Amino acid sequence: MMQADTEVHKGLEGVIVSESSVGFVDGQAGRLVYRGFNIETLAARSNYEEVAYLLLYGHLPNQKEFENFKATLRSTMELNTDTVDLIKSIGHKAHPMSVLRTVVSYIGAKDPKSNSTDLKDQEEMSLRIMSKFPAIVGTIARASKGLNPVRPDPKLGYAANFLYCSTGSRPDAEQEKIMDTCLILHADHGSNASTFSALVTIATLADMYSAVTSAISTLKGPLHGGANELALETIKKVGKPENAEQVLSKMLANKEKIMGFGHRVYKVYDPRARILKGFAESVTHKNGKEVLFQTAEQMEKVMISKLGEKGIFPNVDFYSGMVYDSLGFESNMFTPIFALARVAGWTARSLEYVKDNKLFRPKAKYVGEIGPKDYIEIQKR
Ligand code: ACO
Repeated sequence: MMQADTEVHKGLEGVIVSESSVGFVDGQAGRLVYRGFNIETLAARSNYEEVAYLLLYGHLPNQKEFENFKATLRSTMELNTDTVDLIKSIGHKAHPMSVLRTVVSYIGAKDPKSNSTDLKDQEEMSLRIMSKFPAIVGTIARASKGLNPVRPDPKLGYAANFLYCSTGSRPDAEQEKIMDTCLILHADHGSNASTFSALVTIATLADMYSAVTSAISTLKGPLHGGANELALETIKKVGKPENAEQVLSKMLANKEKIMGFGHRVYKVYDPRARILKGFAESVTHKNGKEVLFQTAEQMEKVMISKLGEKGIFPNVDFYSGMVYDSLGFESNMFTPIFALARVAGWTARSLEYVKDNKLFRPKAKYVGEIGPKDYIEIQKR
């Protein structure tokens, strides 16, 4: 006898599993909102640390709140020697996302508060994780190239410190602004796979390090954060605008997915991609890589003409890789940079969820044999 028929929502598509006031994605209107603010407003007028505060606490900080928040972040931004040694020991051979996952888990194992389920402790863990992220991701970037670490500078902000810890040079105002805006654009995005993964973990009353480690593991995949690495690879493979039509037609005929296009929620142009496209144009113009941008723009035209009516447009990953490439990052660092930003959304939503907690326990529809079958000893099978 089979189980009673139940409707299956593969990938939980369309299933509402929680309430949140952190952020909102309107996939039909192409709108992204953090706590009531349009992403375009925050990208133009705010900065990442302020946006992180907004996501975590629900309002923009006043001057005093902001200074306290920044001081808290900066007080724990340095990495211990053993953490740096761990990064150096695996950083030159493993993928940076694997290193990041290991390091957050390691720091969690050493935090004496990490067994606490107290909400205040979870909040403090969130800030400690966030504070160390620029140095962690920057040190991973250097270790992957065999370079020695650079200690963060408490006088620099989150984005500038990340660039400093990665490159060893203090960024100019334009580089800092571009990096900072990229981080704002990636800070939160609804109930995406990595955020959901964080919620599933925190809902078991595991600690925030475990939630963030789960989220990092989930972000690693090419259908989620890993797409920007592959998107730039595809743009480079296409090589020049004249090739776009032919290469993409062939890939689509082979039923290949073109990375950097399409989105589970957006069925129109991703608002983050629009802002990143502007940065991609200006940075490639500056560093003489215009052909990359022109190729991407032509790919966009071809894809929209072929798949636009199915709601397939560039997503956040299409132009972000080009921007990071122009800032000097290797493509294997693109997803860790995504994590550097998304840690705000992961922790804000985890803290929000656990305040009114409910363990996740979805069902799977059993489609196997119901039996009971005879057990045959191994020698007789
Ligand atoms: N390239 C080619 N065809 C595509 C693409 C793509 N990138 N995306 C969707 N399609 C096709 C689908 O195969 C489907 O075709 P069909 O009608 O013949 O079956 C049609 O367009 C409609 O697809 P959707 O149902 O809208 O897409 P879905 O919700 O299943 O998938 C996903 C969304 C997984 C993001 C998909 O678009 C994809 O794989 N894109 C490439 C990977 C990528 O860029 N991921 C990053 C997403 S953003 C982020 O995570 C930060």
